[in-house]
Amino acid sequence: MADDLLRCRSEFPILERTNYMISNSLGAMPRGVYGALRAYAETWATRGVRAWEERWWMLAAEVGDEIGALMNAPQGSVSTHQNVTTCQAVVASCFDFSGKRNKIVYSDLNFPSVMYFWEAQRQYGARVHMVSSEDGITVPTDRLLDSIDEQTLVVPISHIVFRSSYINDAAAIIEKAHRVGAHVVLDTFQSLGTVPIDVQSLNVDFACGGVLKWLCGGPGVAYLYVRPDLGRKLEPKLTGWFAHQNPFGFEVGPIRYVDPPFRFMNGTSQVPALEACRPGLSIIREARVEKIREKSKRQTARLIDLADRHGWRINTPRDPGKRGGTVSIDMPDSQRVCRELLARDVLVDWRPKAGVRFSPHFYNRDEEVDAAIIAVEAILNEPV
Ligand SMILES: Cc1ncc(COP(=O)(O)O)c(C=O)c1O
Repeated sequence: MADDLLRCRSEFPILERTNYMISNSLGAMPRGVYGALRAYAETWATRGVRAWEERWWMLAAEVGDEIGALMNAPQGSVSTHQNVTTCQAVVASCFDFSGKRNKIVYSDLNFPSVMYFWEAQRQYGARVHMVSSEDGITVPTDRLLDSIDEQTLVVPISHIVFRSSYINDAAAIIEKAHRVGAHVVLDTFQSLGTVPIDVQSLNVDFACGGVLKWLCGGPGVAYLYVRPDLGRKLEPKLTGWFAHQNPFGFEVGPIRYVDPPFRFMNGTSQVPALEACRPGLSIIREARVEKIREKSKRQTARLIDLADRHGWRINTPRDPGKRGGTVSIDMPDSQRVCRELLARDVLVDWRPKAGVRFSPHFYNRDEEVDAAIIAVEAILNEPV
């Protein structure tokens, strides 16, 4: 059957030289980034400081809208930041941990940076409750839901677990959190671009992630969706002049907050990274995430099937409905296998308690999936 997603392969130079199986870590660079960064340099060189007014100031919001369109976020509800950890900090700074409602509930399969941030909030009164996974692959949803109670303030949770690609039951978590008056921060870093997301139908309070993986947007841009009713009333204490109603008034004294999305931003935005991420966003928009998801389910199933034939351990859910875009395979000597694969231009990575992570994306051929596994076989058959 013809795979029309493959038509975009020529947009990604690295696909000509490598077997690119690592979009869970860094999506391939679209050719259009050369032009976007050249245009950025040209604007700086020729328009100088006028570039702020003519283009750069609003870019942070425009890119937010482009990302937001991929998750059905209303216009103006997505701010842009440098990374997810900062997005979590902006959210945390909207809340007060000194009252009775000061509990933070999450799973130990969250991305560690996010956990380091919330752990550090203990000194401001936050009570962190971490729910441990039994198998290192799945999150025990019932225990997580039971832990969310009337004292819970925030539930920061990965939509898809970085290690195992397990898809959390976001709807159930949001439903329970709202029933008891808590807020959910859904980290969609490992889902947006490969699994369809609709923040409005989920009714999630906050969603954040970065563009460098499945969105092929490169490092330096993260996004924060804030549900519009919350966006109008929350007051982030991690703030700055970009969030001021009159930034060029340079007023002294407390901030007067502007409306979202700038309300959730703070200092000068990361203009080159914002420019660089746009070609990737537009390719993903055209490819359509629903189609990407169908292909991803097929290729991840193929990887599991091939790994099973060798009896290698799979650290990823077998149920396609619970599995994101990655298959973590812990074959014998997996860390060395990963190094050897990289040396042979099969681009993957290795993570403790996961093994080698293989992440085919919409631009990969089925034959590349097979070739990656054949390369593993060859490495394991060679004398060490
Ligand atoms: C689920 C998830 N959250 C967050 C991050 C990264 O966080 P940050 O943008 O703060 O570096 C990753 C990166 O691998 C991730 O997989």
